[in-house]
Amino acid sequence: MEKLYIELLEKAKEAAKNSYSPYSNFPVGACVLYESKKTYTGANVENVSYGLSLCAERNAISSAIANGEKTKIKAIAIYSPKQTNCLPCGACRQWLSEFSNNDSDTKIILEDKNKNAFVLTLEDIFPYGFKFDE
Ligand code: THU
Repeated sequence: MEKLYIELLEKAKEAAKNSYSPYSNFPVGACVLYESKKTYTGANVENVSYGLSLCAERNAISSAIANGEKTKIKAIAIYSPKQTNCLPCGACRQWLSEFSNNDSDTKIILEDKNKNAFVLTLEDIFPYGFKFDE
């Protein structure tokens, strides 16, 4: 497996340990890599009012913005100890697209059941996202 993918998945795994998910018992961690080469992690944070729960991916992106990141997203690794190939939800796909230069260059990195990286692009999983007319 490419070294970069291993590193990003390791960071996503560490982040999943910080998940607050007492309602679903489904921890998720994410690690987003920017063109600046900086990485930011996030975990899902749930609430007793279930619909207020926040996903790991959007928390990682929010952390990047809150810390002054100005470049675009190159890749995101996502990990849940409960499920292999933990794909981002629709809302997180739209968020990833917002901060990507080109969806076909943004890598989505997951871990398959053999513990190998499974790599898709954002375009693969989000081909018709919302955009304003140019
Ligand atoms: N969740 C994420 O954080 N990211 C995903 O890619 C899928 C779902 C969270 C939301 C909720 O806290 C729990 O996983 C179960 O849906």
